[in-house]
Amino acid sequence: MSLTCIITGSSRGIGLGIAKNLASKGHQVILNSRSEIAPEVLAEFDGFDLPVGQMVGDISNFNEAKRLVKEVRKEYGTIDVMVNNAGITKDGLIMRMKEEAWDDVMNVNLKGTFNMCRHVAPIMIRQNAGKIINISSVAGLMGNAGQTNYAASKAGVVGLTKSLAKELAGRNITVNAIAPGFIETDMTDELSDRVKEATLKMIPMKKYGQTEDIAKAVDFLIDADYVTGQVISIDGGLYM
Ligand SMILES: NC(=O)c1ccc[n+]([C@@H]2O[C@H](COP(=O)([O-])OP(=O)(O)OC[C@H]3O[C@@H](n4cnc5c(N)ncnc54)[C@H](OP(=O)(O)O)[C@@H]3O)[C@@H](O)[C@H]2O)c1
Repeated sequence: MSLTCIITGSSRGIGLGIAKNLASKGHQVILNSRSEIAPEVLAEFDGFDLPVGQMVGDISNFNEAKRLVKEVRKEYGTIDVMVNNAGITKDGLIMRMKEEAWDDVMNVNLKGTFNMCRHVAPIMIRQNAGKIINISSVAGLMGNAGQTNYAASKAGVVGLTKSLAKELAGRNITVNAIAPGFIETDMTDELSDRVKEATLKMIPMKKYGQTEDIAKAVDFLIDADYVTGQVISIDGGLYM
């Protein structure tokens, strides 16, 4: 069965990896980022069963998130899978962290996830079916020096996930989170060689993960009808 799946923050990195995997399985995928998806990214979806969709907009804005969900609902009729993946970092030690760095990270990572859940939930409740998958982070589970804003936002995503899972469990809607460790994307590319070496030493499997590793966990959560309120770590053993 083909499912209608929204993946926020899917112009690159983990979101794009999740989207390509779902499209390859015949699902209707709707990409999202703050600006138009580049033609070469859209071209990566050529050859799949269904033409890829896109919704351009900033998910940290409540009304814009509402508009995006409304447009998708109007065009595709249902929203079966909501993957809240869009996220940013603005790292720094707390002594030097600007208020803006705190607010921006909380607004995208936590409020953006709330916004999309808030607007998608009534649709899924009416359908009496749905899967919500929120991308948290290992930083939200174990903390990370220099990432008070990011870790707090991702810990918030865990609390949101578990609470919403309890609210929606009786409606045949599951809500779960994935906590990636270090995955090779633009986000981790920015880290200095010194930080990369130090993080590799901390990972029991001694390697970074790939976007496909996260896509496989999304597949599992879409299939798993009796799993809700869980946080699945995909991190080479980092958080054990
Ligand atoms: N990479 C890792 O090792 C790692 C580890 C743990 C957790 N994560 C989490 O996994 C998710 C994806 O990470 P990534 O490494 O793939 O990041 P990335 O390569 O930086 O991609 C982030 C995506 O989010 C979009 N985005 C950012 N702000 C947005 C907004 N306000 N509205 C809509 N889209 C927005 C970006 O597009 P535009 O900038 O064009 O809008 C881009 O498509 C994030 O939530 C991240 O925190 C990543």
